[in-house]
Amino acid sequence: MSLEQFKGRSLLTWLDYSPEEIRELLDLSKLVKEQKQKGEIRLRFTGKTLALLFEKRSTRTRCAFETAFGEEGGHPVFLSTQDIHLGVKESLEDTARVLGRMFTAIQFRGFKQSTAETLAEYSGVPVYNGLTDDYHPTQALADIQTLEENFGCPRGKKLCFVGDGRNNVARSLMVICSKLGIDFTVITPEALNPDRKLIDACAPFAAASGAKIRVTASLGGVEGADALYTDVWASMGEEDKKAERIKLLKPYQVNQALMDRTGKKETIFLHCLPAVKGEEVTADVIDGPRSRAWDEAENRKHTIKAVMLATINGTGD
Ligand code: CP
Ligand code: NVA
Repeated sequence: MSLEQFKGRSLLTWLDYSPEEIRELLDLSKLVKEQKQKGEIRLRFTGKTLALLFEKRSTRTRCAFETAFGEEGGHPVFLSTQDIHLGVKESLEDTARVLGRMFTAIQFRGFKQSTAETLAEYSGVPVYNGLTDDYHPTQALADIQTLEENFGCPRGKKLCFVGDGRNNVARSLMVICSKLGIDFTVITPEALNPDRKLIDACAPFAAASGAKIRVTASLGGVEGADALYTDVWASMGEEDKKAERIKLLKPYQVNQALMDRTGKKETIFLHCLPAVKGEEVTADVIDGPRSRAWDEAENRKHTIKAVMLATINGTGD
């Protein structure tokens, strides 16, 4: 499978990828998942190295990158801010230049989107955004794969994000849904409305794909939803806002009553994880029969492998 147009590219946000390219990555991800399930051993990253830079904690993203790369013969190296001079003692640009001389690609998880951009600019190798304050693109790809596994082609399906409408997960979903023709509704109190600039940036993609992007404070917005999605009420780095968020978001908890309000028995529940059970979602929903959160977590690995195969090797073979 030739994916030559991906070679050498970074994934910082889905704003930089066309709907057709996202489609190709989803198809490759489905293929690598099947290969994994059949127990096929492939060594598509032999002789390659991946720097995994973390300013924030991670379970899924770290494990997905590390195992997807390592099991194909690559050498991933985990580097937290305790280990290297990331933005301390030497400039970020210099760190990027050096990492670019030693690694085939770099994953960055941290605070500022601009850090991921600088790493990409100065390293000269593909940089993957493994979550910043602004975006979580690899998560969104796994979310769409999960949607597709349940409903087939996701075009025209209705995904509702209920919770902190301005967070990185909601923002990445807005971009990917607008590109792929998925109706996306953010249900959030006005104080947490997504950034107007992002909604405006997504508008032309939605117009081209037929996606309807909506923002509402009303829980009635879940009606007809194929999937309800939520995330923690206070993201990493916002721990001081926790009490205020609980007050604001309490009515927006995803519980069985809200699942029932979609009016569809087939509605699935999605969560990027980690989850705080009893806050943004009740245990009966996330651990219940309509939850797909665990498939979604597994899909992080397959989608991330697909992104790395395309951007490092330029082929899925
Ligand atoms: N969903 C997600 O990114 O999980 P981690 O924070 O564990 O990587
Ligand atoms: N919005 C959450 C996502 C965690 C995967 C955070 O940034 O903490």
